[in-house]
Amino acid sequence: MSDTIYSSDFLVIGSGLSGLLFALKAAKHGTVHIVTKGRLSDSSTVRAQGGIAAVVSSEDSIEAHIQDTLRVGDGLCHYDVVKSIVKAGPERIRELVDLGVNFSRGVNSDEYELGLEGGHSKRRVLHVKDHTGEDIEIALIKQIENVANITIFENHMAVNLYALNNRVYGAYILDVNTSEVERFLAKVTILATGGAGRVFLYTSNPDVATGDGIAMAFRVGASVMNLEMVQFHPTLLFHPKIRSFLISEALRGEGARLLGPDGKRFMPNYHKDAELAPRDVVARAIDHELKKTGADNVWLDISFRDASYIRERFPQIYETCLKAGIDITKEPIPVVPAAHYMMGGVRVDINGRTDVAGLYAIGETACTGFHGANRLASNSLLEATALAHNASIAAAEEIKSKSSKIEIPPWDPGEATDSDELVVISHLWEEIRRLMINYVGIVRSNKRLIRARNRIGFMTREINQFYWDFVITPDLVELRNISLVAELIIKMARMRKESRGAHYNKDFPDESSQIVDTIMRKGYSPVN
Ligand code: SIN
Repeated sequence: MSDTIYSSDFLVIGSGLSGLLFALKAAKHGTVHIVTKGRLSDSSTVRAQGGIAAVVSSEDSIEAHIQDTLRVGDGLCHYDVVKSIVKAGPERIRELVDLGVNFSRGVNSDEYELGLEGGHSKRRVLHVKDHTGEDIEIALIKQIENVANITIFENHMAVNLYALNNRVYGAYILDVNTSEVERFLAKVTILATGGAGRVFLYTSNPDVATGDGIAMAFRVGASVMNLEMVQFHPTLLFHPKIRSFLISEALRGEGARLLGPDGKRFMPNYHKDAELAPRDVVARAIDHELKKTGADNVWLDISFRDASYIRERFPQIYETCLKAGIDITKEPIPVVPAAHYMMGGVRVDINGRTDVAGLYAIGETACTGFHGANRLASNSLLEATALAHNASIAAAEEIKSKSSKIEIPPWDPGEATDSDELVVISHLWEEIRRLMINYVGIVRSNKRLIRARNRIGFMTREINQFYWDFVITPDLVELRNISLVAELIIKMARMRKESRGAHYNKDFPDESSQIVDTIMRKGYSPVN
């Protein structure tokens, strides 16, 4: 057991775009501790290929971006939130440029080269070739390293928040190298742990996306919202050796076509915008084609475009596919849909405030209502920057009136012993992820959801027993979080008696005339 107590004004858990940007801004007002369970650069941000949507062209307008976001969000977006975030877009882009992000510009031109993706009525996706997120993350890390007020703790994994009387005072953090649980005390705690794509067997998300922030927030009484809204990206590379590699929607923006096993286009049969229909429509269409034909994958073809253009515009995708034996300048790419983004998350206001004092959530961990039932492509990095900005202002104000003179009791390992059954942890992981993809995937039904609920209930009880009986390890902490998030997704999917956006239930195929957010809080579910 460790006696170490770390104290700061702001404790940031997670190190993607939203966490790092918040830290940079908050460091102007106080001390910041960033804890991250792997390396600083392990985050979903790094995998964002497509880019960041914002209005920077005179041919575009804020109103058009708002309307596209609302239409794709299928009735569930919160209008005020959409308006505020879209309006902030141009300013947030200028800021990223000032921080060192070099968005691609046209050949012989100073204008940004704007990409097109599904659901957008205009070209408005700023990007750095096809590795936008990686460049943003690198730029932010460079900045962070020069800030004296920021201390970084890599290989430190949050286990639980510490809350008293509906206020959070920091967190218990497992030092992965020493296996000690340390106390991190803070006036304000910010959850920026990303999403939970790892709840599903097939996902574009990195290994770290295990819903830690959502699970920790729920356990201390914060509300979660719309967790049943899981976006499946239509085109993950289908390859036995390369896992979780996305084939960006930007390819479809540049004309790539989806082909069935017979080599024929099928999207025009499903939507007037064909390959550029909203993501939920494209993912469901592929799912339908796969079930109809029994094929393992469909194909995405961009090979009819000029080879040098493809290599220049999509260098990462070109190289990765080539390593897999696929030359995308000559042949179509095998693809399948996979869990990609959670529109739901910890319920927050436009400043990232949860309903537990001292606790904020930003980025994919949070649910502001911006994305509604289906996220418009490349709107997530935009929301992450806007929320990091707003939260930094609100949290800086909050620390002025807060004292951190509170004792966090040391971590109590109880009677925990070393587990001799680590294999059970990996079996349970596998079982949950398979259960979720089979029963709570792109197409759901009442029967499947009930089966999923019964099974997850049993597994969650078993996992909690593990948690109390054995010395905690990173795998066990993640498993406990994954199982809770899976349970919440299933429960919230059962609460929604309609099909809307990313949530499709065969037994309720239509949209209900009543548009409601699903909201749950520990001990009070449902609250709406
Ligand atoms: C992509 O490049 O297709 C992903 C971008 C996003 O999810 O918004």
